[in-house]
Parts: sequence; C-alpha cells; structure tokens
Amino acid sequence: MRNRTFAMIKPDAVACQYSGPIITCIEKAGFRIIAQKMLRLHISDTNKFYAIHSQRPFFRNLSLFMTSGPVIALVLEKENAVTDFRTLIGNTDPRIASPGSLRKIFGQSKTRNAIHGSDSDENAIKEIHFFFSEREIIPEPYRLPIPETEIDS
Ligand code: RTP
Ligand code: MG
Repeated sequence: MRNRTFAMIKPDAVACQYSGPIITCIEKAGFRIIAQKMLRLHISDTNKFYAIHSQRPFFRNLSLFMTSGPVIALVLEKENAVTDFRTLIGNTDPRIASPGSLRKIFGQSKTRNAIHGSDSDENAIKEIHFFFSEREIIPEPYRLPIPETEIDS
C-alpha cells in the first residue's frame, strides 16, 4: 500500500552539507517528497518529539544535539514507505548499519546519525502532524500550468 513516512535530516548532516546527497539518495530509492522545510528545533520540541526517550541515559545528549543547528523535515510517500525508509537509513549506530545505508554513508556516531525515520505508520502520522499543517503537504506532482508557447520578438 502506498503510504507516508516522516523523515528528518539531523543537524550533523545539515552542517556537513550532506542534505543534497541525502535527498538525492531518497529520491533515487523511489520516495516522492510531498513536504519539506528547514527549521531549528527548540528544547520544547525535542521534549515532545522524543518524549518516549525522556528517561533514557542518552536523552540529554540527544536533546542538545537535535537543538544544536537546523534540521530538514520531510514527508515522503511510497509503497511501504515506513519499512522501506527504515531499511534505507539503516541501524541507529552507523558503525553497524548496512553498507550503502544513509547512516553508514553519512552518520558519525550513534547520536549523530544523520537522519531520522518514523518507526510505524501510527508514529509517522503523529510526526507528520507535529511538523506540518495540511496545506504544507502537496501530494500532487508538479505540472506546468499552461503549455509553453514560443514568443517571437
Ligand atoms: P530515529 O528515531 O532518530 O529514527 O532513530 P532510531 O529509531 O534508530 O533510534 P531510537 O532508539 O528511536 O533513538 C532516537 C535517537 O536517539 C539517539 N540515540 N543515541 N548514544 C546512544 O546510545 C543513543 N541511542 C539513541 C540517536 O540519534 C537516535 O537516532
Ligand atoms: Mg526512533
């Protein structure tokens, strides 16, 4: 079934200017980008977005990292988007992520691992709505509005 997932290029990858190559890999893997924006997360955002990890020992590091610079939030559409995107990004730890996966190529460490992907359809919907309003999501492919006509000068 064609469905949606939420992706976020993390501050390490944006700072290293990897967002272009990462987006190229995402599109080459068959995902269509239907929403995209750059923003800087506030600590109140990470407290909500990563609430499930709030009692974990890495939470403080994760919050500091995720608020350290801009991120790029994306909504992606594809058949089996959630599972296929988790495969494309690879294991949380870039050292053990599969060769060719985004975290293997662009990640630096278990915290600075370049990219986020939703882990279930249910979380994808929540995460998409955390970042985007309905009118910011544009599922229709872009088309030129009128046929182009040559203008003789
Ligand atoms: P994500 O949510 O970012 O897609 O990553 P994930 O599902 O693969 O991993 P998750 O367990 O949800 O952890 C969320 C993010 O927290 C950071 N983390 N650091 N140093 C550590 O032990 C550690 N463990 C997790 C990573 O940035 C991870 O992506
Ligand atoms: Mg996760």
